[in-house]
Amino acid sequence: MKAVAVFPKGREVKVIDVPEPRLRSPTQVRVRTLEVGVCGTDKEVVEFKHGKPPEGEDHLIVGHECLGEVVEVGEQVKGLAPGDLVVPRVRRPCPSPECEPCRAGYTDFCVTGEYTERGIQGAHGFAAEFFVEDAAYLHRVPRELRGVAVLTEPLTIAEKALREVAHVQSRLPWKPKQAGRAVVLGAGPVGLLGAMVLMRAGLRTTVYSRSPKPNAKAELAESLGAPYVSSKQHPVDALVKQRGRADVVYEAAGVASAAFQLLEGLAPNGVFVLTGVPQSQEEELDEGVLMKQLVMNNQVVVGTVNAAAEDFQEAVQDLERFRKKWPGGLERIITARHPPEAYAEVVKGDKRSAIKDVIVFAPG
Ligand code: BGC
Repeated sequence: MKAVAVFPKGREVKVIDVPEPRLRSPTQVRVRTLEVGVCGTDKEVVEFKHGKPPEGEDHLIVGHECLGEVVEVGEQVKGLAPGDLVVPRVRRPCPSPECEPCRAGYTDFCVTGEYTERGIQGAHGFAAEFFVEDAAYLHRVPRELRGVAVLTEPLTIAEKALREVAHVQSRLPWKPKQAGRAVVLGAGPVGLLGAMVLMRAGLRTTVYSRSPKPNAKAELAESLGAPYVSSKQHPVDALVKQRGRADVVYEAAGVASAAFQLLEGLAPNGVFVLTGVPQSQEEELDEGVLMKQLVMNNQVVVGTVNAAAEDFQEAVQDLERFRKKWPGGLERIITARHPPEAYAEVVKGDKRSAIKDVIVFAPG
């Protein structure tokens, strides 16, 4: 079968032919890959800055944002049948008996760093015509989400973040009457999906991103009901003047300088969630100013990565809610579909479209 893989030694990215995987345990499921989304992490993987092949292998099959269709189930699998649509989780637990989060099923909080991630870290991904996975790592998706469910995994980032914001804000000894204001930094798929989650939770949400208007991301954000402000045209103080300070900042741009500048726009008692992984380390900060602001305003900065089973369940439900609340909105996030042969050019940027690119393995 066809698969897309990176070969770190030769620094190559190519379509290869590999044997079709088979069920090797009664709890496994064989899945036909329908679509695989690409993101900034995939760019890091194809540029050999992040990720590694499985132990003892010279290549890694890429792809971690996936929608598939069940073709075969092991005899102990319950609740899944051939024809069902499924989305797989990404991270698998580390082997350490001492890792409490992994042993408790919260591998997204792994403390040893010895987890694997399919398509990223030490385990083959889903950019292949078929894959096999344990049923415990698959989430069933209703058929009517066929066109948008490839967005489930990037949406789980926002689901986990929102859950953490709720936990953090339960520290406030009074119950705030209003959901408050949010600013999303970055208007890529993670930012736009984050804005949808925050608006669904009742926050008055602004999307703050570099490109001046008009542009496709700004149009989409505003059609969803989130005003778009360009950071090129409006520095943070202008943003604050226009929109007020934010009780929640959801960072989804991966640029440290832009993120920490926006700390100035965080309201007292606010929470700042970082989801992006910056690539360069040449940025400078005034740590003293930041520390004083955090302390004097009781603020919290939280980093978040990966997501748990409950975030996948919530994401699938949110996709259904979003389709009703914003008809056609999710569809507009997916701005291009490509064949597997285009993978390298899409991920590196030559064929990248305005928002989300998706690789199609099985049309329909
Ligand atoms: C994925 C996460 C993963 C992270 C780090 C992100 O793009 O969505 O599942 O944990 O990269 O590898």
